[in-house]
Amino acid sequence: MRGHRHLDIGSDHGYLPRYLLESGRIAHAIVVEKTRAPYELSCRTLMGLPADVRLGDGFEPIDDALSATIDSVSITGMGAKLITAILARHPQRLPPRIVVQPNDGAETIRRWAIGSFHVANEQMIAHYEIVTLVRSTDKDPSYAAVPEQLSFRFGPRLLSRRDPQLLAYLVLQQARLAALPSTPRAHRELALVREALALLGCGDDR
Ligand SMILES: C[S@@+](CC[C@H](N)C(=O)[O-])C[C@H]1O[C@@H](n2cnc3c(N)ncnc32)[C@H](O)[C@@H]1O
Repeated sequence: MRGHRHLDIGSDHGYLPRYLLESGRIAHAIVVEKTRAPYELSCRTLMGLPADVRLGDGFEPIDDALSATIDSVSITGMGAKLITAILARHPQRLPPRIVVQPNDGAETIRRWAIGSFHVANEQMIAHYEIVTLVRSTDKDPSYAAVPEQLSFRFGPRLLSRRDPQLLAYLVLQQARLAALPSTPRAHRELALVREALALLGCGDDR
């Protein structure tokens, strides 16, 4: 995208910003990595490209003036709680578009986003959720059509469009949870998965 400046936090090897730059999706990358070895790896991966690689924690190395020039941020391949903590620490430094791919389900991030960001897009790839948030303080219309608890857990947009990857994930989860010893937690999880499958018209009428 012409002039688009993108921040990637927790870059590790730096392959994501390199792909975004080489495919022309962004014009400039700012990259933050907390740990020295992956930081050095990112520097090598991005050498010769329009990228500014910084060693540091989350938005710490991005001061308010720099943050005002950034169009979007990605934070991928970490737990949802860590991603949420990074986003919550510097609310004034957040760009208008956020893309997250937590390793363990996006519920915490969706709950954090309410009132400040809308869910603009959701994708499920190999049971990982990729959620795009755009800044808005209005009520998020994504949540209008589906029960709130299911939406936070499985994604309002994935549920609304009966996403085939979500459906496959729920069917697998149902089989996995039904085979577990019946603890209160497994029981609650299974009930939630069954509720989502019923909403998608794939309940087993139990
Ligand atoms: C598992 S890797 C994910 C790499 C890449 N984003 C991906 O999706 O393939 C997570 C990386 O995030 C870095 N990281 C964790 N917490 C961070 C923080 N608060 N600020 C910057 N980097 C962080 C870790 O050092 C690690 O290199």
